[in-house]
Amino acid sequence: MENNNQHYYSEFPNVEVKIYTISESLRRHLYIFKTITGVFSFRKIDLGTKVFIEHMVIPKDPSVLLDLGCGYGPIGIVLGYESPDSNVYLIDINKRAIWCAKENIKINLNRDKKSVLTLSGNYFEPIKNKNLKFDAIYMNPPMRQGRKDFLKLIEVIPSYLKSKGYFQFVIKKKMGAPYILNFVNKNFPNNNIEIICKRSGYWVFRFFQLN
Ligand SMILES: C[S@@+](CC[C@H](N)C(=O)[O-])C[C@H]1O[C@@H](n2cnc3c(N)ncnc32)[C@H](O)[C@@H]1O
Repeated sequence: MENNNQHYYSEFPNVEVKIYTISESLRRHLYIFKTITGVFSFRKIDLGTKVFIEHMVIPKDPSVLLDLGCGYGPIGIVLGYESPDSNVYLIDINKRAIWCAKENIKINLNRDKKSVLTLSGNYFEPIKNKNLKFDAIYMNPPMRQGRKDFLKLIEVIPSYLKSKGYFQFVIKKKMGAPYILNFVNKNFPNNNIEIICKRSGYWVFRFFQLN
């Protein structure tokens, strides 16, 4: 990585464009994903993403859901497939990722365009004037950017959740999952954090407001 535009979390990654097609069975359904160089885990679905998708809790009732940092869209697209009456938003800063996510929605979901929406920008920036709150927010966070950014993000998450809403995320144990667990327990007295599962070195969490 020679400059900032070569990271998968750049707005405009500066690497030669190559498009790939990958297929993956997730929650017993086969998905086809178009991916592109410059986007997170473009050669194959990330193991953390896979563990997360297999264990994430999806509301049964029609809901408003967000895949934050969607990449080429695997989490949001599974949400769109498994929760056909929910509105799903997918946000990413990387324009190539958003291009893929749009293509992958068309490939994998037979749904009204407006009910699964992609938005590009810095985390909640693209929805800041929409007055939106979510039943659930899902994320495989970019821990390579450092823990500090993720801890700052956790602070704003409750303001985007409905009162019974929750934030689910996955972190590799070696990338600081135990640290995040301790930090949240110490610093968020109005919230609870629970571990949904520990698999293959990844911890899947659910973070929610205490009543
Ligand atoms: C670890 S990747 C996960 C991608 C995808 N959810 C998956 O599981 O394959 C994290 C994603 O967060 C995105 N991201 C990083 N910083 C961001 C920001 N400030 N705003 C929006 N997305 C961001 C990156 O571009 C990347 O696609």
